[in-house]
Amino acid sequence: MSPKLWLPVILVVVFAGATDVAGAYNRPPPQDTLIESLAGDSDPTTPQQVHISLAGENGIRISWITNTHTLPTVYYGISSGKYDHSANGTISSYEYLTYTSGEIHDVVIGPLDPNTIYYYCFALGTTHGYSFKTPPASFPIKFVISGDLGQTGWTKSTLEHISQTNYDVLLLPGDLSYADMLQPLWDSYGRLVEPLASQRTWMVTQGNHEVERIPAIHPSPLTAYNARWHMPFEESGSTSNLYYSFEVSGVHVIMLGSYTDFDSASDQYQWLEADLQKVDRNKTPWLVVLVHAPWYNTNYAHQDEKESVDMMESMEGLLYKARVDIVFAGHVHAYERFNRVYNQESDDCGPVHITIGDGGNREGLASKYKEPQPTISAFREASFGHGEFEVVNGSYALWSWHRNDDDESVQSDLVWIKSLVSNPACNKLVI
Ligand SMILES: *[C@@H]1O[C@H](CO)[C@@H](O)[C@H](O)[C@H]1NC(C)=O
Ligand SMILES: *[C@@H]1O[C@H](CO)[C@@H](O)[C@H](O)[C@H]1NC(C)=O
Ligand SMILES: [Fe+2]
Repeated sequence: MSPKLWLPVILVVVFAGATDVAGAYNRPPPQDTLIESLAGDSDPTTPQQVHISLAGENGIRISWITNTHTLPTVYYGISSGKYDHSANGTISSYEYLTYTSGEIHDVVIGPLDPNTIYYYCFALGTTHGYSFKTPPASFPIKFVISGDLGQTGWTKSTLEHISQTNYDVLLLPGDLSYADMLQPLWDSYGRLVEPLASQRTWMVTQGNHEVERIPAIHPSPLTAYNARWHMPFEESGSTSNLYYSFEVSGVHVIMLGSYTDFDSASDQYQWLEADLQKVDRNKTPWLVVLVHAPWYNTNYAHQDEKESVDMMESMEGLLYKARVDIVFAGHVHAYERFNRVYNQESDDCGPVHITIGDGGNREGLASKYKEPQPTISAFREASFGHGEFEVVNGSYALWSWHRNDDDESVQSDLVWIKSLVSNPACNKLVI
C-alpha cells in the first residue's frame, strides 16, 4: 500500500490533453435497439448467428442457428475452400412463452493449431464460408473487453472499433443482447455480432439482463443465455454454464456468475476454490477474473446490490489469497479503473478492479459519481467504449481504454500492469 512499492507495479502513462478531451466530449443520449439488425434471412436453412468459443485445450466450439432442420456438422481446414476435416455435434432448441427458438447447433472441432487461420462451413458446396483465427500458444496475446453491449447504434460503433484492433479473444462480463424477454432480440443480437464472433473466440458470462425469469410463468432463469451461449464449463470441471474457466496463451481466465449462488456453501464457491488451486503460475503467470456486478464502484448506479456486496464478501478473500491480477466487471454503464485493492483499501497484492460496462446498450450511461473521488479509484468516466488487455509477457501487460467519441475510437486511459507473480512481495503468498 505504500506508494514506493506501488509505483513500479503500475506505471501510469499520461496522455497530453487527455483530460481536456474528456471534458470537452459531449456524451450521447440512450439509443433504442437497431431496427436493421432485426431482419433475418428468408431461407430457413441459412446458417445465422455464428459464434465461436474456446473449448478445452486446442478445441473450438462453433454455434449457429437455422430456422429449419439442418445437420450439426462443421467442415473445416486451413486452406480457403478446402475443408478436409469435419466434426459432428448436437442440436437443441428452447421455448420461452410463445416463442420457439430455431435449431441451435453446437459442434466442437479440433485439436487445432495455435495462431492459425481456419476456414469452415456447415455444408459442402455452399457459398456460406467462414474463417477464424486461433489464439497464440504463448505471449503476446490481446484481449478485448466490453460489457453491457446491447444492440444500438452505440453498440455498432463499439463493434467497429473492436474489429479494428486485431484482437485474439473477446471477454464479455455480462449483459449481452438486452432482449429482456423479447426472444427475437436474441436472434437479432446474434446476427449483429456474427461478423466478429464468427472470426474470433468470444468468451462471455451472464448479467442480470440474461436472467429472464418470470415467477410462475417461466420460473427457470437464464434459458436463452444457456441455450445460445454454451461456454466451456464441462471442460473446466464446472457443473454449470454460469461459471467456468479456461487457459489461453499463459493466462488463466475465470468467469464467475453473479446471478447464481455464490455463498461459501455453493457449488460455485467450491468450484472456484478447486479451480484456483489448479492454477499453475509457471504455465499461466496471469490470473484474471470476470464478473458482472462490480465489487468496487464509485458510481451512484448499482450501489449496495447483493450481487456486489454479498458476492464480494464471500469470494474476495479467495481471489486475494490466490493472487488474482485483475477483476473485470460490467453492470455500471461507464468505465472505472481502481488501483490494486483488497478489503476496501489499497493493497499491492490485491487485484486491479476494472468496470467496463460501457459497450453501448439502450439504457444509456451512468454518469453520476460519488465525490470526492476515493483514492483507490484511479480513473473513471461515463462514456461508451471498449478495453484492450495486451499481455506482453509473464510480467507486463498493457491495459488501455478506448472511448467512443461517437464514431471515433479515442484512447483515453493507458496503464502498464505488472503481474503479481513477478512481484516478490506478493508471490511468496501464492497458494
Ligand atoms: C457425421 O454424421 C454424418 C451423418 O450421420 C456421418 O455420415 C459422418 O460420418 C459423421 N462425421 C463424423 C466426422 O463423425
Ligand atoms: C516484458 O515486457 C516488458 C515490456 O515490453 C519488458 O520491459 C520486459 O523486459 C519484458 N520482460 C521479460 C522477462 O521478457
Ligand atoms: Fe447489468
